[in-house]
Parts: sequence; C-alpha cells; structure tokens
Amino acid sequence: MSHRATGRRLRRSLPAVAGMAVVTLLTGALAPAAAHTTHHHGHHDHHPHHPRSSVTERVDELMSRMSLQDKLGQMVQITRGAASPSEVAELRIGSVLSGGGSAPSPNTPEAWADMYDRYQSAALDTPLGIPVLYGVDAVHGHNNVRGATIFPHNIGLGATRNPELVRRIGAATAEEVAATGVDWTFSPCLCVARDDRWGRTYESFGETPELASAMSSEITGYQGATLGGDPTSIMATAKHYVGDGGTTGGVDQGNTQLSEQELRRIHLAPFHEAIERGVGSVMVSYSSWNGDKLHEHEYLINDVLKGELGFDGIVLSDYNAIHQLDGDDSTLTASEVRRSVNAGLDMIMLSKDHEKFLNHLRREVESGRVPMQRINDATRRVLTKKFELRLFEHPYAQRDLLSTVGSAEHRELARQAVRESQVLLKNEGVLPLSSGTDNLFVAGSNADDIGNQSGGWTISWQGSSGDITEGTTILEGIREVSDSSVTYNRHGEGINDSYDAAIAVVGEKPYAEYQGDRPNGLELSQEDLSTIAKLRSSGVPVIVVLASGRPMDIASEVGNWDALLASWLPGTQGGGVADVLFGKYDPTGELPMTWMRSFEQQPINQGDGKDPLYPYGYGLSYRD
Ligand code: GLC
Repeated sequence: MSHRATGRRLRRSLPAVAGMAVVTLLTGALAPAAAHTTHHHGHHDHHPHHPRSSVTERVDELMSRMSLQDKLGQMVQITRGAASPSEVAELRIGSVLSGGGSAPSPNTPEAWADMYDRYQSAALDTPLGIPVLYGVDAVHGHNNVRGATIFPHNIGLGATRNPELVRRIGAATAEEVAATGVDWTFSPCLCVARDDRWGRTYESFGETPELASAMSSEITGYQGATLGGDPTSIMATAKHYVGDGGTTGGVDQGNTQLSEQELRRIHLAPFHEAIERGVGSVMVSYSSWNGDKLHEHEYLINDVLKGELGFDGIVLSDYNAIHQLDGDDSTLTASEVRRSVNAGLDMIMLSKDHEKFLNHLRREVESGRVPMQRINDATRRVLTKKFELRLFEHPYAQRDLLSTVGSAEHRELARQAVRESQVLLKNEGVLPLSSGTDNLFVAGSNADDIGNQSGGWTISWQGSSGDITEGTTILEGIREVSDSSVTYNRHGEGINDSYDAAIAVVGEKPYAEYQGDRPNGLELSQEDLSTIAKLRSSGVPVIVVLASGRPMDIASEVGNWDALLASWLPGTQGGGVADVLFGKYDPTGELPMTWMRSFEQQPINQGDGKDPLYPYGYGLSYRD
C-alpha cells in the first residue's frame, strides 16, 4: 500500500461520493447489458439471458399450477432449527434462514454447502419443484461461518467515506456466501443511528442519511449490477424499514417520534437509493412510528414503499416480529397474521408457529379478510426473485467458490477497509510510531481478542470474547508490522519508563440488538480505566486505541492521553490498525457520528446546536 496511491484519493465531500456511487451504478450496470438501457426505478432491466418478459411469463405459468397452499407456503421463511428439509418441502415453505450463529456442526463452509443442498434437494423433490431461498445475516462478511473473512462493522465503513470500497466488500462477501449455497443476506442495514445509546449503532454507516445512502453501494456489491446477473449474485436486503435508528432514547425496537417530513428526510432517504440500485428485498423494522408498529403500517408499506417508491421486491418481516402486534409475543393470532399481510408483508420470518401461521392465513383468505389478490402479489414477488436469481437453473451451492472463503485476497481487502476506517482523534506528536526504534508496551482488554475486535454478529448472534475464529488480533498486527520488541500484558503489569511508548487497546465487549442498549452510560469499563492509569503512572506516552461499536464517553479522560485512535470494530484483520499506528497508511478516516462531550448530550447529531467533543466528519492525518 503506497502512500502515493492513497494520498491521491481526495477526501471527497459526500455529495461527490454519492455522485460517484451513481457513476459506479451506471457504468457498472451499463457494462454487461450495454445493449439495453437500465432503469432502476424498482424495475429490472432486460437481461440477455432472461429478458423480463420471460421471468414474468415463467411466474405466470408456474402460478397457474399452484394451489392456495402452495402460494401460502411461499410466504413463510422458517429458521433451520425449526423445520427439517422434509418438513420444509412438505409444507411447501418458500424460504429458510439461519438466525445469528445458527450453523451446522461442524461449522465449516463445506458443511454449510451440504446443509443448503439438503434443503434445496428436498424442495426440488416436490411436484412443482420450487427451490427455496436461504437467508443469513452476512452483515460484515459471512460472519456465521468459522474461517470467513470478517470485515469492519458498518460504523467503521462509514468512517472510510469510500462507497466503492464498500461495494467491493459486498462483492467479496457475496462470493463467500454463494460458495455455501446461501442466496440472500439480510444486509445492508441502512439505519441512520441518531442516538448512541442504541445497541445497533455499529450496524449503521452513520448519523446522516447521506452516509447511509452512499454506502448502499454494498447492495450493488452483493447483487452485481443487476440481481442474478453474475453467478455470485446474492439478494441484498435494505433494513430495517423505517426509522429503526431514530427511536426515542435509542431504545431498540422502540418508538420513533418524528413528523412525516423528518421521517422521510432522515430515515426514508436511504431506501430511495437502495431501490434505485435494485435491492431485492426490504426488511421491516420491529420499531414503531409515533406509536404505530411498522409491521402493520399499511400507509408506510403499501402506499409509500410499494406505491410511491415503486418497490417490487420482497417485503420481509423481522424475526417473529408479527407475534408482537397484539402486545403478547408468545402467541400468534389470526388478527396479527391478517394485519401484517394486508399491510404489505410478503414473507414472514418465523422461528416457531409456522403451521399456525399457514392455518390462520388460509382461513383469513377463505373468509375474504385477506384478498386473494394480496396472496398473488406476495407469491409473484417471491417467485420473481427466485427466477431472477436463476435458482431453477442453478439451485445448488457453488462449491467452486469455496476457496474464496477467508482467502488472502479477501483478507487484504478487509485490511484495507480497516486502514481506511481508523479515525485519528488526538495526536500529541507520538504517532506514527517508527517501526525500528520503539520499545513498545501493549495492554488493554481488546488488544489480543479477535472476538472483542469483531463485535456482535460474529460466529454467534451476540458475538463473544476469545479466539472465536481465524484472524489477526490488533496485538498480532502490531508485532507483525513492528521491527522492535513488543511487550504485552493485558492489565499493564510490568510497565516502566524503559519503554518508548505504551498502547492501550480498550473499548467494548461484543453485543447485538437490544442487549447493546446503554441507557445508563457509555464510559469505559473500570478494567480499561485502571489499565490506562497504570500505563500513565510510568510516565511514558500513552496511545489509546478504542475498539468499540460507537463513540464512548471519554471527554474527562482524553486530556491525559497522548493519542487517541478510534478503531470501531475492525473484524479479523487487526493488522490494518497497526498499519496506521506505524504510518504504513496515513489515517484518512472521518467521524461518521458526532462524538459526545458528555453522555447527557445524547442524542447528539450534526447541526443540533450541541457542543461536541469531536464533530461529525472530524479526523486527523499525520500531515496535520
Ligand atoms: C434479528 C434482527 C434482524 C436480523 C433477523 C434475522 O432480530 O433484527 O436484523 O436480520 O433477526 O437474524
């Protein structure tokens, strides 16, 4: 990685970035289908190999042979743990998912491909032979699979301000996902995180709609210029529709209290871009808008998403989300089924009650309370994606791609993303470290822990500390890049003034969703604070590297630190952090979130008149 190459990369203002994203879209889209113009207003262009007319005709022809039960089955997405391949086939279920961490045993790419093929062959062995769609949360790489490349979480990708890099990450992830057969990722989250107390802040590209819109380039990475155009094409999901990042207090699955104008300006805008890019599915949010649950919101789904925005893909529920509509998560009522389906949900994600769902829905249709036209629309949307993805022609895992899982090429891409995501917030002349002369001391809870530096949605739903998958910890990266001796002790035991500098890698432990909500504070842990204090007592310069899923409340401490680098959640390629620390890469990252001066300021966002510690867009380089 030569400086010159990166030096030339101008720090683009977002509009230019967004413009570039559109350029990427147009050139990308025009290249393979030069003969046809491409309209991404919710309609797919005519591919040479299956012009739209053939997809429509094939859907019509297949639907003419489908019973009501066949159609209702296509509207169910069931977790693999709840239904075997034979039960999925028997109930004509249209889709299967692995929830976070739901992996075969052993958790290897080959075992994933075998599992996928078992579901697929059972589905094909039915009278109509309709293949299933298999979905996973590949949100920062194929993160449920051991050995897969784990990229930085979205908050770090937002700091790169580089949509083309994010598109490439989508494309690399699609290869690893397609290798295991999986056709669908529930990514990207286009949430605009407005309150750092929210447990899903790290799943957001940042606090502005412009950033989420620009990074929707990941959709083009996952899907290709058009869905199904390339063999590695997998279906992307724009989520969670709409306003998930704007809830009061940052409460996960909470209530977004905004005027319609503000909801549209802040939270709806990224979905426009996603639909322009031809995103194949949209996942509805658990949250509410002004007290009304999104999962039964006819106006926002039928009128706005499908009508005004012209979305013609699959509207998918979140996990058992319709169970919540009557206020009692433990039961699934006919009313909940009717209200969600009539509001425009096309496919319902369930880990239980799938037969109850089918029975409720069949009775609602037979009674006329759910129109047959609604069922036909939902079925048509699901089948259209299956034909566009060419599942009928190529239903099985693409095992020739298995060598891409965790490949050196993908890990190098991830390392570049780590480099570009680092945001230098303070530097009292101690960085960059020179690789030859420094006698370094490294400490901190996140220095040598691949699980901590990867965060939630890694191998398991919540993620976990420890050696959970293959990769390079930040400490290992420092040892690799540095030519000098590097001493490590998690708590700083043994530090003294013989060292040239001390690096404390601190921050958050893994979490996901509501388990990451922090309504009571975002300060560093006592363990981290005492480690930093111990390093400071030696008198050597202290560099703090903060591996966290969001800004933390450090204003009262940072004055004592000689440098501060926000690393976010870098994933498996910790070497990218060392590349910045040693000046192999001059930091170019810019804050995707306003950094609070105090916790009491939350929510704090660009332009709200509050005085931040560091503003949105802030970031130092070594030239500063
Ligand atoms: C989770 C999340 C959603 C995820 C889904 C499947 O509850 O809200 O983002 O895609 O369930 O794991």
